Amino acid sequence: MDVKIREAEDADRDLFWKATLDTAWGDIPDDEKVHISRMEFDQYFKRAAQPYLEDGQNKLFIAADEKGHILGYTLLGKSVPFYSPKPYGFVFDIFVTDDARRKGVARNLLEFAFGWFKTQGLEKVKLEVAESNERAKALYLKMGFRSERYVMGRRLR
Ligand SMILES: CC(C)(COP(=O)(O)OP(=O)(O)OC[C@H]1O[C@@H](n2cnc3c(N)ncnc32)[C@H](O)[C@@H]1OP(=O)(O)O)[C@@H](O)C(=O)NCCC(=O)NCCS
Repeated sequence: MDVKIREAEDADRDLFWKATLDTAWGDIPDDEKVHISRMEFDQYFKRAAQPYLEDGQNKLFIAADEKGHILGYTLLGKSVPFYSPKPYGFVFDIFVTDDARRKGVARNLLEFAFGWFKTQGLEKVKLEVAESNERAKALYLKMGFRSERYVMGRRLR
């Protein structure tokens, strides 16, 4: 598939929010979901995530086909670890529309991301993925990512 990647425009924001909220909601562990409704979650998440989208350092890129139909997006940025002043690239989110899946769109977006990070002088890229998100984990493994840290949790009663 011929995939073109461009910077997002304001008109792309609705798709971004809808898809990001769906993915983020799906990633919440079941035992934490019982305390929050979908509507409350959407409002809370949007308020918390909005600064990342508005931050001039982070960039939302759109993948489209040759006719301009949107196939997906990725939100890219930078992060600095506590143990070193050296920043790394961070893939905040990646999404591909249902009809365009398993056609290499996410691979294209990630390859684009690797190139974009290099132009920013970065030498490493990281991301986070929910333990339950098997297709995303398969994508990242295929693209050369390896697990470096686990987030662990348990109920207190
Ligand atoms: C995860 C996601 C981005 C993958 O997008 P995609 O365009 O379908 O992925 P690609 O076609 O580029 O796949 C590249 C490789 O990733 C792996 N992969 C992707 N989807 C997979 C799936 N459903 N099952 C198993 N492996 C998968 C495969 O190795 C694939 O290569 P192959 O098709 O040659 O076997 C897409 O399923 C999606 O948008 N999911 C919902 C949002 C989401 O979960 N985002 C991740 C947030 S951390």
